[in-house]
Amino acid sequence: MNIEGFFSKEYIQQVLASFEEVQRTGQSKLEIPLLHKDGSLVDVLMKGVRMPDGNVIIYSQDKTEINRAQRTLQQERDNALRISNVDGAFNITLGLDGLIQKINQMGCDTLGHPKEDIIGKNWFDNYLCAEDIEFVKGVYADMMAGKVKPHLIVTNPIRGKNGEIRTILWRNAIVEDEMGNITGTLGSGIDITERERHKESLRNSLEGIFYLISAITEVRDPYTAGHQRRVAHFAKEIGVEMGLNEDLLEQIYYGGLVHDIGKISIPSEILSSPGKLSPLQRPLVQTHAKVGYEIISVVKELPWEIDLIVLQHHERMDGSGYPQGLFGDEILLPARVIGVADVVEAMTSHRPYRPALGLDVTKEEIIQGRNTKYDPIVVDACLRILDNGFDFKKMQSL
Ligand SMILES: [Fe+2]
Repeated sequence: MNIEGFFSKEYIQQVLASFEEVQRTGQSKLEIPLLHKDGSLVDVLMKGVRMPDGNVIIYSQDKTEINRAQRTLQQERDNALRISNVDGAFNITLGLDGLIQKINQMGCDTLGHPKEDIIGKNWFDNYLCAEDIEFVKGVYADMMAGKVKPHLIVTNPIRGKNGEIRTILWRNAIVEDEMGNITGTLGSGIDITERERHKESLRNSLEGIFYLISAITEVRDPYTAGHQRRVAHFAKEIGVEMGLNEDLLEQIYYGGLVHDIGKISIPSEILSSPGKLSPLQRPLVQTHAKVGYEIISVVKELPWEIDLIVLQHHERMDGSGYPQGLFGDEILLPARVIGVADVVEAMTSHRPYRPALGLDVTKEEIIQGRNTKYDPIVVDACLRILDNGFDFKKMQSL
């Protein structure tokens, strides 16, 4: 059978060129439909090699199934992108080199350019903020090389329409070929810029409320003026030393700022009376933790349990505190941190009826109470701060 028996007319020239190539260069490669004896077409990969004696060997591999699977996969990806246009997400596929291969309409709208201007551009160089480019490129290269696990959920800012910075929450998936080799990523992003702005403004409002509450307490109780601000500041320092996350640090700071709010219910003569409290006065003063809890509970939908932190700031690890006599982990961590900061601040501060007790006496108190009254991890962090020359003068000026 001659060559026309194997290939349709339109492919003959390509086949002949391939034969000519193998004779000239020693090898050739051609993917082409081959005519089956039943008249159907079969996708084959034909490879030619010229032997030392000048003869040429042509061998072929049936690619029909592989090509069909790739077409199906491509269709599925296209469908997924089409679906993603109606789910409100910004979808994008990147190749190994970080070039944009596909993007949906939401993505084009967010970036402010038509699809044809975006496809083929380097994602990192064109759409990330300058300060993030090198770091994110490095992480991406490691992901593509299989050196690090994919960052499945990540939030990062991008340069969107008219250069405006948008915050995107991404869900990423690694894309692989039929052999399991990594070929890029598919990212699905939600624009959370407005949500983040709203959170920030809510946070600013809350901060204002806490400062207001703190100021009200101090008008009633001049002897401890600034005490709450200093406790908030020092407790947060302890939290940072402990390596606590941002959310816990905020709870500690705001809890510290209002921890004695309940004192507004106690007559100022008692609060400002010199010397030790009488047996009648002590339980009255101790009500400030519960009263403070009731006051803060009125502020609904706080993002943290500041009311419980205020309630628990005089609880002690061995159950000797008040008002509930809680033990150990029953006391919220921010309350345990504030408890230690409260003692340190009070002992190192001057009172009208006594001078400041000094750093050594203060340290002795928390070392004595380590593991009985006070959380040992909190005490250790506190001692490290004190031993590293914490600036008490600066704290007293707060
Ligand atoms: Fe207190």
